[in-house]
Amino acid sequence: MSARPFHLGWFTNFAVDEWTKTFTGDGDPWDGKFYIEMAQAMERACFDYIMLEDTLMISEAYGGTNEIYLKHNIMGPKADPSPMAALIGASTTHLGVVATFSTMAYPPFMLARLCSTLDNICKGRFGWNIVTTGEDLAAENFGMDKLPPRQARYDMADEYVELCKQLWESWEPDAVVRDRATGTYADFTKVKPIHFKGSYYQSRGPLNCVPSPQGRPAFVQAGGSPRGRQFAAMTADSIIAPSMGVAGLKAYRDDVRARAAAGGRDPDEIKVLFVVAPILGETEEEARAKAARIVEASDYCEKALAMIAAITDIDFSTFALDAPLPHLTTNGEQGSLDAFQQWGSGKTLRQLCADQLGRGLDGLIGTPDQVAARMGEVMAEVGGDGFLITRPFTTNISRQYINDICEGLVPALQRRGLARTSYAEGATLRDMLREF
Ligand SMILES: Cc1cc2nc3c(=O)[nH]c(=O)nc-3n(C[C@H](O)[C@H](O)[C@H](O)COP(=O)(O)O)c2cc1C
Repeated sequence: MSARPFHLGWFTNFAVDEWTKTFTGDGDPWDGKFYIEMAQAMERACFDYIMLEDTLMISEAYGGTNEIYLKHNIMGPKADPSPMAALIGASTTHLGVVATFSTMAYPPFMLARLCSTLDNICKGRFGWNIVTTGEDLAAENFGMDKLPPRQARYDMADEYVELCKQLWESWEPDAVVRDRATGTYADFTKVKPIHFKGSYYQSRGPLNCVPSPQGRPAFVQAGGSPRGRQFAAMTADSIIAPSMGVAGLKAYRDDVRARAAAGGRDPDEIKVLFVVAPILGETEEEARAKAARIVEASDYCEKALAMIAAITDIDFSTFALDAPLPHLTTNGEQGSLDAFQQWGSGKTLRQLCADQLGRGLDGLIGTPDQVAARMGEVMAEVGGDGFLITRPFTTNISRQYINDICEGLVPALQRRGLARTSYAEGATLRDMLREF
């Protein structure tokens, strides 16, 4: 087994915490304290970053109504990640803070300014999860009839990111002089308009806020389709991807690294983190009993399918649970759909739902030591770079789960030399990602 450490991130959102189970809260986390404390627990465990997912609609994809989504708080309600990112940044010292902003929703100037502001508040630890949005209902919230096709969304995103980069560079790093002798705050010769004119976007510049410690935020991206992977490979500092069996993880990582190299990037600049949801117990039996309680709940399949429906815009209420699915494609999250449908496996829809509990990677149910060993083996086979922890499918985040990971699994990984045990003083998020 390899003793090289790998990177750890946590995938969550500013949404309802677990509120229906025995050891849980009240489902009212909207003052942000729950998530601040979560981030602090992650910082004690030396995670690289917390990532706040976001989407911009209440779904109606399952059964054509928002009833199930609101009843079970699936993919909503959720609150804006940017104030939460600022609160987390101000309440932590080392942890990276990643927030999701859609290229569909923000004019590029606003996005560039928001990210610079957050990177300053976070003292160089901010990251932007670049998404193009995958739901027609979200597009309608922004005045469109429906989403543009994926190819066009990514063509727009290429230009959008280029424009933002130019805005971030519109101030030279040393433009702020704060010279008391001359009473000069900023040197105007080092702040220039960009006069950007593209096919989709225009902006004059310069940005009207000071440069941030990282210059630009760390870029996080989750391209799944070939076009999305190309965008991610050419852009991201960290790529996040659904798990799809060990061979699938290796193939995905090899593919984005090859694309990066072909495009002239050093593949080691990109850290690919795979989504996993370990289930832990004092004993393996206890962990298995926890897993069984989730998957055997009478509404498990319905919740699972509502969730997949929301991110793929496919109404899964129309398919039989005990038959295989037809081959499906979507203009929404194709990568997540492919990971879910396991095309060619012959599994029934009910089995596919059950498989989601492990988020596509088996062997992560057991004691912290068992799961840490398995994670080490998987990483050794895949070649790197780490995992993005998230709550088990259909559950909400709870302090108990955070504790299982931060006080159980991570120490077990650390004892094996597989996870970071300290932070370098003053490291930015990009420094952290490139440290190993
Ligand atoms: C781990 C993970 C997190 C994601 N987070 C978001 C998100 O917060 N908001 C969003 O609109 N899309 C999110 N996506 C969707 C991706 O941005 C992307 O659209 C998806 O992986 C499908 O890839 P494709 O766009 O190449 O088809 C996420 C995907 C993954 C795998």
